[in-house]
Amino acid sequence: MVPKLNEARELLRNYDQGDFHLLQGEIVSGIMGYFSRQFEPENEEYWAAAGMLHDIDLELYPEEHCAKCYELLREHVVDEQMIHSIVSHGYGRLDWVTVKPMVRPSKSLCDMDVGSIKKKFKKKEFAAGCCGEDILC
Ligand SMILES: [Fe+2]
Repeated sequence: MVPKLNEARELLRNYDQGDFHLLQGEIVSGIMGYFSRQFEPENEEYWAAAGMLHDIDLELYPEEHCAKCYELLREHVVDEQMIHSIVSHGYGRLDWVTVKPMVRPSKSLCDMDVGSIKKKFKKKEFAAGCCGEDILC
C-alpha cells in the first residue's frame, strides 16, 4: 500500500513517541511536499508521506537506522517503491551497509578479500535496506 499522509502519520506514531521525532517527521514531510509541488505536483502526497516516514526506525533502532526501516515498513505492507524512496536517504552511510570497514583492524576497504564480499553479497542480510543494484553499479 502507498500510505496517504494521515496514514503515514499514524504509522509513525506507532514507533515514535518523542515530540522531537514526530515534529521532525512533520517538518520533513512539509519540506518534501513543498518541493514536490514545485517539481512533481501530481505526487505531492506520496513525497509528503515518504518524508513523514523517513526516520520511522530512528527512535527505537538508532543503530540500525534505515536498515530497520525497511523491515518495519514491509511489516505494514508499504509499497516497495516507497520503501526504496525512504531508505535511500541513508544511501552511502557505512554504518547501515553491512560492509563495515571501520570495524576491520585496518579500518580500510583496501585489504578486504573480494571473494569474501562476493560470498556475503548472496546472503539476504548483506546490506539489508540497500538496493543490491546500487552496490553493483
Ligand atoms: Fe534518517
